Amino acid sequence: MSMKDPSNRVISLTRRREEKTGSSTKNTRRARGSNARVIAITSGKGGVGKTSIVGNLGYALTKLGKKVLILDADLGLGNLDVLLGLAPKYNLSHVILGEKTIDEIIVEGPGKMKILPASSGIQELTNLTKDQKIQIFTQLDILIDSVDVLFIDTAAGISSNVMDFNATAQEVVVVVSPEPTSITDAYALMKVLSLKYSGKACKLMVNMVSRPEEGREVFRQLQLVTDRFLDINIEYLGYVLFDAKVTKGVKCQKVVSELYPETHASRCFTDISKKIFNMSQLDLPKGGSNLFWQHLI
Ligand SMILES: Nc1ncnc2c1ncn2[C@@H]1O[C@H](COP(=O)(O)OP(=O)(O)O)[C@@H](O)[C@H]1O
Ligand SMILES: [Mg+2]
Repeated sequence: MSMKDPSNRVISLTRRREEKTGSSTKNTRRARGSNARVIAITSGKGGVGKTSIVGNLGYALTKLGKKVLILDADLGLGNLDVLLGLAPKYNLSHVILGEKTIDEIIVEGPGKMKILPASSGIQELTNLTKDQKIQIFTQLDILIDSVDVLFIDTAAGISSNVMDFNATAQEVVVVVSPEPTSITDAYALMKVLSLKYSGKACKLMVNMVSRPEEGREVFRQLQLVTDRFLDINIEYLGYVLFDAKVTKGVKCQKVVSELYPETHASRCFTDISKKIFNMSQLDLPKGGSNLFWQHLI
C-alpha cells in the first residue's frame, strides 16, 4: 500500500486521533464513555417502510429526550430528506468527493434530529469502494459521540454497501411486511447476515400489519426457519399497524408521529421507541466501539 493510497491516509488519520487520546479505538471509546446506540434499519425487499420507520422512530425518541442522528445510507436513491421536507444543499456525495466534511452536510429535521442526507441518482454511489466506506465511517465515529442514537437507513437488498452498513451497526433491525415475498427476502437477508457477520443482535420489526397478532405470527414463521437453518438469533422488536395516515404524512413531507401523534401507527412508533431504550445496554453486543467499522481495514 503506497502512502498515496487513500486508505493509508485514513488509517494514519485515525491513528493520529487515537494517539492523541492515548489508546486504541477500542479502549478510547470506552474511556470517553460514549454510549451511543448504533442501529441499522434494513430489509430484503424494498418499499416495506424502512425510511418511514427511521423518521418516525427517530422523532419518537426525540420526544423521550434522546439526541438522534440519522444517516441516509440509501446512497444511490436516498429520500429521507424528502420524507422530512428538507432541502439539503449538500449530501454524502460531497463528503465522498472530499468537498465537504460530514459535519458540514448535517441538516436539522423535526424534533431537532440531525440528518446526514444521501444523494439521489448517482449510480456510482451504489457501489462504494472500501476506501470511501472507511472515509465515511472514520468521520461518523467522531460524530456519534455527541448523540444518544445513530440510525442507519439502508437501501434494500444484500449488496455489499448494505451489508457493510449493517456490519458496522451494533444492532440490526430487519423490517418485514406480512407479504410472503417480503418474508422470504427477509430470510435471505438474515442468511447473508448470519454467514458473514455472526454474533449480530438481529431484531425483527413487522410493518403494515392489519392487527397486532399478525406481527407475532410473521415473527414466529421466520423464527422457525432461522432456528432450523441459520446460526442467528432473532428477537421480536414489535409491529406497526397499516395506517393510511403514514402516506398522508409523506405527501405533506412530515412524519406521521408529528402530524398525527395519536393515530395507530404513531402509537406503535412510540411503543417501539420506548422498548428500544428499555433494553438493557448489558444485553447489547459488546465491541470496542459501537460503530464496528474496523473490519473494513
Ligand atoms: N405502517 C404503514 N402504513 C401504511 N403505509 C406505510 C406504512 N409504512 C410505510 N408505508 C408506506 O409505504 C411506502 C414505502 O415506505 P418507505 O418508508 O419509503 O419504504 P422503504 O424505505 O423500505 O423503501 C410509502 O409510501 C409509505 O408511506
Ligand atoms: Mg427507503
